[in-house]
Amino acid sequence: VVVRAEGGAGIGINPDIRKTEDKVVDAVVVTELAKPLTAYCRCWRSGTFPLCDGSHVKHNKATGDNVGPLLLKKQ
Ligand code: FES
Repeated sequence: VVVRAEGGAGIGINPDIRKTEDKVVDAVVVTELAKPLTAYCRCWRSGTFPLCDGSHVKHNKATGDNVGPLLLKKQ
């Protein structure tokens, strides 16, 4: 269950996953990618969703959350 305050501030989107980390980022190595690195949004605040536009930084500062993108890297 995701609990969020009105306007998106106050309570983070991540209730308990890897909360000791400043930012949760996972990377998956894929061989069939056109670009060397693509970041996919996991905070649901990107203006270019599903791609990450860095909006997670503002969200993390405002809420104390630690969300970050999924990185797909070309091998
Ligand atoms: Fe959502 Fe970066 S903008 S993870």
